[in-house]
Amino acid sequence: MIVTIDGPAGAGKSTVASRLAERLGFRYLDTGAMYRALTWLAMQEALPLGDGDKLGALARVNQVELDESGRVSIAGTDVTAAIRQSRIDRMVPVVARHPEVREVMRERQRELAELGDAVIEGRDIGTVVCPDADVKVYLVADRTVREHRRQAERPDIGADALATDLRARDDSDRARMQPAEDAEVIDTSDLDVVNVVDRLEALVRSRFPRSGTRTRVDRSVPTDAGQSPSS
Ligand code: C5P
Repeated sequence: MIVTIDGPAGAGKSTVASRLAERLGFRYLDTGAMYRALTWLAMQEALPLGDGDKLGALARVNQVELDESGRVSIAGTDVTAAIRQSRIDRMVPVVARHPEVREVMRERQRELAELGDAVIEGRDIGTVVCPDADVKVYLVADRTVREHRRQAERPDIGADALATDLRARDDSDRARMQPAEDAEVIDTSDLDVVNVVDRLEALVRSRFPRSGTRTRVDRSVPTDAGQSPSS
């Protein structure tokens, strides 16, 4: 079973998706981390971020690795912390908008989805990457709520700078920020994490009563699509 969770930055996707995956005993796949890691590498190598061909080629030869503890690496470097910097926040949409990059990411994300039993979060998962997903969710929240959540995550960054970044990212991501027609849209503005996860778990179980056993504790997605899910 595939559960997709899409929505804008600050809508609560990551926390909710990883907790839901844990409850269901599914894998958790953070597709934003894949775009972030590629952006980090492109900046590291001083590639022009306007060159889709070069970035697509970079993505193809440097697979993003996501391990079971949630660590992210690319080109042999652990970038778990580095990809959360505000310079990456600002530049990811510039990299993510190239069709050459999206094609590589889409292929890789589909391979991972084909392993089954996963909660996958992003922007275009229910619409483009996994249009046949079993359960699709689209989380939204008021902009001020999203700004406050971002501030709580990034106390080191000024509120004004954060608000400006969030607005710029919404504008850049807008083309991909449409809920799938069959997505359940949930406004998380007045809900806490547990409320949202409870709602999603109930949604999944109402559609698939026998889903999820809570037996799996490994939240990872194997880095080799050919590996067994528990490896
Ligand atoms: O989810 P997160 O905020 O980490 O995503 C970072 C950026 O990656 C987004 O702002 C967006 O530009 C890009 N992204 C995307 N498609 C996805 C996931 C993320 O374009 N499926």
